Amino acid sequence: MNVLIIGAGGFIGSHLSEEILKKHKDWQITAIDISSSKIKHLLPEKKFDFLEIDIVTNFNSLKDHIKRCDVIFPLAAIASPLVYVQDPLKVFELDFEANLKIVKSAVKYDKRVIFPSTSEVYGMCNDDEFEEDSSNCVTGPICKQRWIYSCSKQMLDRVIFAYGVRSGLRYTLFRPFNWIGPRLDDIYNENNGSSRVVSQFLSNIFHRKNINLVDGGAQVRCFTYISDGIDALMKILESNNVDKQIINIGNPNNKCSIKELAEKIVVFAKKYDKLKDSAEKISIIHTSSADYYGKSYQDVEARVPSIKNARALLGWNPIVDMDTLLLKTMDFYFKSAL
Ligand code: NAD
Ligand code: UGA
Repeated sequence: MNVLIIGAGGFIGSHLSEEILKKHKDWQITAIDISSSKIKHLLPEKKFDFLEIDIVTNFNSLKDHIKRCDVIFPLAAIASPLVYVQDPLKVFELDFEANLKIVKSAVKYDKRVIFPSTSEVYGMCNDDEFEEDSSNCVTGPICKQRWIYSCSKQMLDRVIFAYGVRSGLRYTLFRPFNWIGPRLDDIYNENNGSSRVVSQFLSNIFHRKNINLVDGGAQVRCFTYISDGIDALMKILESNNVDKQIINIGNPNNKCSIKELAEKIVVFAKKYDKLKDSAEKISIIHTSSADYYGKSYQDVEARVPSIKNARALLGWNPIVDMDTLLLKTMDFYFKSAL
């Protein structure tokens, strides 16, 4: 099997590559990214071919790899809310335009696609649990640019679904709900808002900066440990039974408000030599979303996945609880050499 992973150098791509190399020693991975800094340890592997290709400016270089592979994971995207509001067209060009070309090539060359949709497609849906085939996808007005990511992903979901009907495209859409773990983001980058919330809070403590609770911190997310997510992706990859399915991959047991998350992280940080001093000095402060992200931000108040599909189709259940997930992630960043 030749697996093409576009965005293999990212958080999910790097863990997925590791797992495939570990479990399927005869499988070949073609790994595409603009950066290999998170996958240096995989570069010497014989079955791992890394190619530095920018899929926005150099899509043509990708075509031959699409022709040659058996299955494609198009994981390259911008997934940070600050970029949605500061540079929405950059999000559109990569997350929508470049990925659309991949999908069209998959149709043309008859390749299977395992595509990352997102929990964000449900937007401000009011359901207690978001269901793949019944929950509404609710976004805000056009001036709230935050939704460009959600809309880009939703439109691709719809295009992929339609190609499944019209052209028999073999696809599975998976929807990660706040996956967390080692290599999530660059916590050593000092800019507020450059990363997703867990890595942002860790970065704040590391740089001895106060933690910002945006608009009160009552927003709820369900955090999912990366090994649980990768377990689900492997089941999808190894299954012949999940074509034309949409599957939420999240941990409803790890429901946590952002305020609780901040408090937990500060308590845990005191266990680490590299953070202890800062954690005792910094505060959790309140800020408005307009000040933190800008006026075109709008938030998702509560987001909980239904995982009935994942259980029924994959026999999958997440196992890593909230505290363990945070401690494993913090161990990676703060027990390592830096
Ligand atoms: P990530 O940012 O860690 O990885 C994305 C990778 O794409 C990076 O390595 C980046 O260098 C690469 N990339 C960016 N621009 C590129 C370009 N022009 N050409 C080639 N490569 C480029 O993101 P992730 O968390 O690994 O997410 C992977 C996918 O899953 C994305 O589509 C994301 O939207 C989706 N997703 C992730 C989560 C999550 O919890 N992490 C949740 C929902 C959806
Ligand atoms: C994320 C991102 O859009 C994507 O990474 C991804 O597709 C998706 O959700 C997912 O992981 O399922 P969101 O959860 O809103 O969206 O992004 P975060 O940046 O992690 O923020 C979570 C919450 O923390 C938001 O309510 C935000 O306002 C808040 N926050 C963030 C703070 O209170 N303080 C901060 O410093 C940063």
